[in-house]
Amino acid sequence: MSHLFEPLKLRDITLKNRIGIPPMCQYSAQDGMAGDWHVIHYGSRAMGGAGLMILEATGVTPAGRISPGDLGLWKDEQIEPLARIAAQAKGQGCVPAIQLAHAGRKASVGLGWEAQKTLTTSEGGWMPVAPSAVSFGDGYLSPHALTLDEIADLVAAFVAAARRAVVAGFQAIELHAAHGYLLHQFLSPLSNQRTDAYGGSFENRTRLVREVVTAVRAVWPDNLPLLIRLSATDWVDGGWTADETVELCRGLKALGVDLADISTAGLVPTAKIPAGPGFQTGFAARVRHEAGLPAAAVGLITSPAQADHIVRTGQADMVLVGREILRNPYWPLQAAQALGQVGIWPNQYLRAAPGGSLGR
Ligand code: FNR
Repeated sequence: MSHLFEPLKLRDITLKNRIGIPPMCQYSAQDGMAGDWHVIHYGSRAMGGAGLMILEATGVTPAGRISPGDLGLWKDEQIEPLARIAAQAKGQGCVPAIQLAHAGRKASVGLGWEAQKTLTTSEGGWMPVAPSAVSFGDGYLSPHALTLDEIADLVAAFVAAARRAVVAGFQAIELHAAHGYLLHQFLSPLSNQRTDAYGGSFENRTRLVREVVTAVRAVWPDNLPLLIRLSATDWVDGGWTADETVELCRGLKALGVDLADISTAGLVPTAKIPAGPGFQTGFAARVRHEAGLPAAAVGLITSPAQADHIVRTGQADMVLVGREILRNPYWPLQAAQALGQVGIWPNQYLRAAPGGSLGR
């Protein structure tokens, strides 16, 4: 029986426990480059004891950023500051991963704490692209519908970013196919109204995701895991469904995906989401049991007992704890203490660990 503090092996990488930090945008990059904020933010979270840390949505092209403050990996100059963060995490025994992303029709909006509407060019914005010229909603531009050549260029951009992630020293990649961003926009019939090989049937709507997975897997080292984040449901009639998620995951397993990070929603602003503790965990359980693909549960997982229960009862192989670890970077070490497990405190902090001695 697995529990929260049992290691998890994905290919040749062993996570020291089943706690991961999900990707969370910091909106603090300049021209896609990580800076001091990222070094401190990710450094302190890597020290907090999680087995895996997935860096925020990182644009594979400039137009693929959600906001002008997103990280990027579309040029070589962006590698070095990320390499510093990856090395620091590894030094703490925390596996560094990076989420490669394209925001599609939800690109070119303000920073997370600013108005969420398409920025004009004078505000630093750009023309968003998408499978079809269907806007996300009020305040969002109708995007440019991608041509077949442009779709091929995007696959190449994911590949180029993956190559740079290898150089930066990341030990896992997560492809962002959730939350209504570009890859999810292709999956859902609500945003994908194409009539070519990328639209219509399940096979066609999932084609781009499968192409990106195949192309990235071909350049991403065989010994390192490839993760994907999916929104299991749009929570809207006529949208992408949990059954389709399970079916897609069966195919992705065969293509070399090692773990699915199962979230929900984000495709349309009108979805009614029954948010509450563990509200998305059942979807991860379905992927794990029905598709046979290892899965991570995420969403309002905040207590050690709840996190341990999810792993112990086989609902997911690991949990991702987001906002709770924004509030408290040491959550994993404190969870170990609460569950009677040994937390691996940094040597420098050992005197503050359970049983530590009074400093003089
Ligand atoms: C997020 N989330 C998110 N998701 C994602 O796939 N890529 C991203 O870059 C971001 N960015 C982001 C920023 C901030 C500030 C927050 C709070 C969230 C979603 C996040 O990964 C997670 O799925 C949710 O926060 C739900 O988990 P918690 O916070 O309830 O544990």
